Amino acid sequence: MSSKLLLKPSFADNTLLSLHKRLFMSKPVVPYKNSEASKKKQVQKMFDGISGEYDDLNRVITFGIDLKWRRNLIRQIVQSNPNRVLDVATGTGDLAIELAQRGVPEITGLDLSPGMLEIGKDKIKYQGLGTHIKMVIGDSEQLSFEDNTFDAVTVAFGVRNFENLKMGLKEILRVLKPGGLLGILETSVPSNPIVKMGYMLHSNLLLPGVGKLFSKDGNAYGYLSKSATKFPYRSDFISILESVGFINCKYESQTLGVACLYFGSKL
Ligand SMILES: C[S@@+](CC[C@H](N)C(=O)[O-])C[C@H]1O[C@@H](n2cnc3c(N)ncnc32)[C@H](O)[C@@H]1O
Repeated sequence: MSSKLLLKPSFADNTLLSLHKRLFMSKPVVPYKNSEASKKKQVQKMFDGISGEYDDLNRVITFGIDLKWRRNLIRQIVQSNPNRVLDVATGTGDLAIELAQRGVPEITGLDLSPGMLEIGKDKIKYQGLGTHIKMVIGDSEQLSFEDNTFDAVTVAFGVRNFENLKMGLKEILRVLKPGGLLGILETSVPSNPIVKMGYMLHSNLLLPGVGKLFSKDGNAYGYLSKSATKFPYRSDFISILESVGFINCKYESQTLGVACLYFGSKL
């Protein structure tokens, strides 16, 4: 065999290389292009700023369909009968609340943004779920929990905001018990060209437009749409979960592929 043939990269090499380039060699998408602060600091500041309007705008932007995606995620997590669940990047606590309503006895909601957590705490108090849900400030990339603490971990629309995605996922794997289940809900890009066109119009025009009209922080909704279109999805994201050490990984596309559920377990 000639050396030229030996050096020719395989299809798998090329796929991995393009994934690597997209993940690590392109500029990170950050909320404030001209800021010197780290992505983490910017993300925290941005979510603190929009915390009061986050829930309402979320419903408008997704036409309320996010509620169905969340329910689909929770249903599968609850089927595994977890006692103790960590909801990473819990924000205003929607997943944590739904988990408690579905009978999970002990839930910890963790987030970087004190502003988002405060809104969540009010909702939890209002619903009388304070004995089941604890809301704590924390960073997914440096979790303060012991190894093997949780039966399940959930993350909704959080992973694409991590500054270091792999570090966050590794930390989640560390705190999961062996056999524990990870469930993630994240945006993805539809593959059907016509649906994709509609999705791009929604992301590039409607989302930043609605943000500029109704939000105190015009940049925030530009960031949310840009980060959604740049983030790895479906099989690309599954490759990342597997590279970190999750097993039995699978994805389930939601609503024409505009969002995706991902599941993985710890050995
Ligand atoms: C789009 S919101 C999602 C909130 C909530 N999970 C939901 O479904 O509505 C993203 C959240 O991720 C949080 N976040 C981003 N990076 C984080 C990190 N490294 N550790 C913990 N929380 C983080 C932000 O503060 C924000 O509240």
